[in-house]
Amino acid sequence: MLHPQGSICWQVGNYVKNSEIIPLDILLYPIFADLNLHLRNRIVWHFGHGLHAKKRFSGRYETVLWFTKTDQYTFNLDAVRIPQKYPNKRYFKGPNKGQKSGNPLGKNPSDIWEIPNVKANHVEKTDHPCQFPVELIERLVLSMTNDGDWVFDPFLGSGTTAIASLMHNRKAIGAEIMEEYIQITKDRIIDAEKGTLRIRPMEREVYDPNGNGKNIPPKTIKLEKRYRTEIQQQQLFEKPENYQQEEEQ
Ligand SMILES: C[S@@+](CC[C@H](N)C(=O)[O-])C[C@H]1O[C@@H](n2cnc3c(N)ncnc32)[C@H](O)[C@@H]1O
Repeated sequence: MLHPQGSICWQVGNYVKNSEIIPLDILLYPIFADLNLHLRNRIVWHFGHGLHAKKRFSGRYETVLWFTKTDQYTFNLDAVRIPQKYPNKRYFKGPNKGQKSGNPLGKNPSDIWEIPNVKANHVEKTDHPCQFPVELIERLVLSMTNDGDWVFDPFLGSGTTAIASLMHNRKAIGAEIMEEYIQITKDRIIDAEKGTLRIRPMEREVYDPNGNGKNIPPKTIKLEKRYRTEIQQQQLFEKPENYQQEEEQ
């Protein structure tokens, strides 16, 4: 079902048992490689909060394995550039001496992403126990898909992937085994349609106890009307007209 220009992002942490960790991405990589998928990045998602370990260092990252199906894949770097650390840095020699050396659109966000995880006081927190922050998925959606593309999440949870996709005019589809989580997803999409869903903006910097950095307030999302008309996202849980269940032989 993956488009030739499409991507798979597989997000996992470590499985922990008796203070011993099993890195799930390392276990899973050979399965994807055997399917001839191409690993483009192993993105380290670093966050500040979690359990405090006593017999090892506290775990503060998870990984996203980004695979593409072919070498011709969608990658919109400009859509996810971040501000330069030294925006006034200039070439000090050569033909461009004196001119600014950084890309004016910002820099490549690299493969280490520092994004707060969704804990109790996070503006996006729902009753789902392991909800992703919208900004983590936004960066994946904006860079790896174009307007109108499909984004499928087989483990929807509280619907973060659907929210991040719909707010950027992509079509969302997904699966979730727990009915209570489907209800959370539904409620969040309805809130986004009404214009009352609050998220932490991508541009907001990570909390700095010294008060440095931009403290951009939470943003309220309202889905654009064209996500139904032009983009043709189906109604929430509507049944396709010509859907037929295959009978078991
Ligand atoms: C890590 S959570 C995903 C969280 C989600 N990204 C979010 O932001 O809320 C994984 C989800 O997969 C669901 N799940 C587990 N096995 C499943 C299956 N076989 N089919 C569909 N969903 C499943 C779980 O109920 C859980 O909500």
